[in-house]
Amino acid sequence: MLQYTMKNWKFSQLIINWQHIFGRNNLPWQNTNNAYYTWISEIMLQQTKVNTVIPYFNKFITIFRDIKSISQTNLNHILYMWSGLGYYTRAINIYKTANIVVSKYHGKLPENIHLLIQLPGIGKTTAGAILSLTYNYSFPILDGNVKRILIRFYNINLKNKKTIIEKKLWHYINLLTPIHNAKKFNQGMMDLGTLICKPKKPKCSLCPIINSCKYKNINYYHKSKKIIYTKKYKFFIILRYQNEILLEHRKKHKIWNYLFCFPEFHSIRSMQLWLLENNINIKYYYLYNNIYHQFTQFTLKMIIINSILKIKKNNLKKKNHIWYNLKTIEKIGIPAPITKIIKILKNTIK
Ligand code: ADE
Repeated sequence: MLQYTMKNWKFSQLIINWQHIFGRNNLPWQNTNNAYYTWISEIMLQQTKVNTVIPYFNKFITIFRDIKSISQTNLNHILYMWSGLGYYTRAINIYKTANIVVSKYHGKLPENIHLLIQLPGIGKTTAGAILSLTYNYSFPILDGNVKRILIRFYNINLKNKKTIIEKKLWHYINLLTPIHNAKKFNQGMMDLGTLICKPKKPKCSLCPIINSCKYKNINYYHKSKKIIYTKKYKFFIILRYQNEILLEHRKKHKIWNYLFCFPEFHSIRSMQLWLLENNINIKYYYLYNNIYHQFTQFTLKMIIINSILKIKKNNLKKKNHIWYNLKTIEKIGIPAPITKIIKILKNTIK
């Protein structure tokens, strides 16, 4: 049984009042009461900052006006609109969910938490966000920002098991989320986490809940654990014939699945074997600058080989390649570092 105490009520009121004055109230997905906008923005915001998301969101909803229009396009078009945003599973899940929503719910996201969390890519937090931020229903949001506030406010011991910490966090946020005005409260918590209770150097003196917060008494700046990124390297080959380049439609890869990319190899030897196997004759090749791309868990060193072909090969052994014409714009998903190289190559067309 949840206890809604005076203390909790005060906490939520302080957040709501603070949000009203200092929070973000004019983001493109706000003030619309459109669950579709909330859903798309929440998925985009899952691993990406607001300022990066805004142009992607605006373009996305201009092309896909509603859920039905997503279901009527193909996955490549969605990935094209997502190119550069990263974490592409999010886009794949949007496509899957749109198709389910059209076939099962007449193209409208259900206003029911149990049905929402069954949809691909929608967990408890995203479902809570859809229902509270669109309709003001009383459901909590527990994203990274909210977790950080609660961990500091209650001084939750991070040495505990992850599952225990999660349970505690849900317990607290369930207690704190008000019956009325959950929308403002949830937005306030996320805004507070981004603007004040930041991971590094929080601005505690500007915080509305400083008086009861345990964090200020402990350690102003927690030394963050130094993250050691593992490094991986892969070889990529640009095969160019006149104004066309070969791109591979990636399947069963750990990264950039379903996106189009230069053929990738784990060694020069495997690249050479592949060239031989496919009877690809190279006029000449040279090493392009190495490119480093940061993923959450590792840094990828991309060793890029640029080559010019003698003749264009159409029938490669695996049928997952396309010839991309540098003079056109193809509506396909391409990872950000590859897009950058393609842009440079576009400047060299005759
Ligand atoms: N992060 C996740 N959801 C957000 C939202 N609605 N506003 C700002 N930041 C967010």
